[in-house]
Amino acid sequence: MVNFFTDNWENIQNFQARPDDILIATYPKAGTTWASYILDLLYFGQQERQTSVPIYDRVPFLEIFLPPHVSGKDQADNLSTSPRLIKTHFPVQFVPKSFWEQNCRMVYVARNAKDNMVSYFHFDRMNLAQPEPGDWSNFFQRFMEGKMVFGSWYDHVNDWWKKKESYPKIHYMFYEDMIEDTGQEIDKLCSFLGVSPSAEDKMKVTGGVQFDNMRKDNMANYSTHPVMDFKISPFMRKGKVGDWKNHFTVAQSEQFDEDYKKKMKDATLQFRTKV
Ligand code: A3P
Repeated sequence: MVNFFTDNWENIQNFQARPDDILIATYPKAGTTWASYILDLLYFGQQERQTSVPIYDRVPFLEIFLPPHVSGKDQADNLSTSPRLIKTHFPVQFVPKSFWEQNCRMVYVARNAKDNMVSYFHFDRMNLAQPEPGDWSNFFQRFMEGKMVFGSWYDHVNDWWKKKESYPKIHYMFYEDMIEDTGQEIDKLCSFLGVSPSAEDKMKVTGGVQFDNMRKDNMANYSTHPVMDFKISPFMRKGKVGDWKNHFTVAQSEQFDEDYKKKMKDATLQFRTKV
């Protein structure tokens, strides 16, 4: 972890959730902003906030603490919407207990490890609050060792997956499914949330959250965020499945796959690296 996510630890752990809060949980770079934007449009699509409030203020990042900016926890406390949409990258064991006690709905998005790694590499290059990524081969090794901010991708996706068995109010989504059929994934999400948008509203959401729309929307593309250097890399970078092929050498891909088999033993959790 880095101090920006640990300095406010006690306050975060004591966060008071409300029963209608919706927690959007992901390993970094798995499609958090995409899911946040979908949920925000589903609940608040008609409102002015779409054109005036950046997505990171509409959906606060619970554990972020970057003084002098208001902490994610305080932002969440101050949200006046119902439901409140709250984002976290916490591994499941660090989710504040109040979310479980209040029986909140949780939406988890997972992305295949190879594309997730590539996206994280570019993010660490451009985000001044993240550690320097080093060169690609160094980053590649560290990812496999789980030495990343928010820990091991392997533990994250597996532990959230297992948690569904004891806590059914987790809706587990895959980035690759969203790419393949956004409309279908939004339908499944709606039935989990118990919302029924009109066909017209659903079309607006499905169209609005396409990569090219989000990329040019300054309220969704993070271009107004204080710690990102878009000269190095944009936040909305490629939005594809399979970009890993432009980064992994053949030898790296083989090494990765060998190691992956050892770490990912649960046959019920399957990822796709192409669609
Ligand atoms: P890339 O770096 O591969 O382009 P997060 O929001 O969790 O930080 O994830 C960011 C990743 O999701 C980036 O991946 C970004 O481009 C991608 N993304 C964001 N919105 C998207 C959309 N509407 N469609 C597809 N990918 C999207």
